[in-house]
Amino acid sequence: MKKKLIAGNWKMNGSAAANDALVRAVIAGIADDSSCAVAVCVPAPYLAQVQMLRAGSALEVGAQDVSAHDKGAFTGEVSAAMLKEFGVRYVLVGHSERRQFHGETDVLVADKAKAALAQGITPIVCVGETLADREAGKTEEVVKRQMAAVIHTNGHCISEIVVAYEPVWAIGTGKTATPEQAQQVHALLRAQLTAATAHPDRISILYGGSMNAANAASLLAQPDIDGGLIGGASLKAPDFLQIIAAARAARV
Ligand code: PGA
Repeated sequence: MKKKLIAGNWKMNGSAAANDALVRAVIAGIADDSSCAVAVCVPAPYLAQVQMLRAGSALEVGAQDVSAHDKGAFTGEVSAAMLKEFGVRYVLVGHSERRQFHGETDVLVADKAKAALAQGITPIVCVGETLADREAGKTEEVVKRQMAAVIHTNGHCISEIVVAYEPVWAIGTGKTATPEQAQQVHALLRAQLTAATAHPDRISILYGGSMNAANAASLLAQPDIDGGLIGGASLKAPDFLQIIAAARAARV
């Protein structure tokens, strides 16, 4: 049975002092209970700090983006090999904010996932429809198209990824997909992945989009929801720890 995974996405938040307090509180809260995997995806300049703070704990560190290239003239980019040197275990790829504000295409997202996998870093591949897509009845078409690009580029390595279904309309809005809405999309992503690999059971599919201490348990109780990608609520240790507690209680 795979463990649930709760990953925090700090986005562009934090400071040396705030990170210190937050990471120490999260580590103290998870103690030595490793029944649920826990990670924080932090801004690149803080990877070294969080890597030091987490030493000896069960907390994993993740990055929020990675270059599709190995090295060279790509000013501002960070390679997977560089992330690896900081003990990075996960990297978000294709977050909707990257797709929306940085023009990331399905193909680029797929290449980024490949670059991470080549370094043994688990890409957390984000997919999700906008409100306009949902209202036009295109949710299935959009998430399947986003997922298909990643499957196409990564072949048999696809069983090593994590997927995060994040409806764009639920991110940072306080509007959460209902457990039924989320489960419906998770089930179709699961079916798509099952058709693509002999090891679909290895792939965790997380839900993200205003997951919080109050709604986590009902979302995590769904059969195809294997964890959460948590934005706002991951910046407050008590909230993040409550979501982790809900994931432990709903262990798959
Ligand atoms: P949110 O963000 O939990 O603040 O909605 C989730 C995400 O963007 O990963």
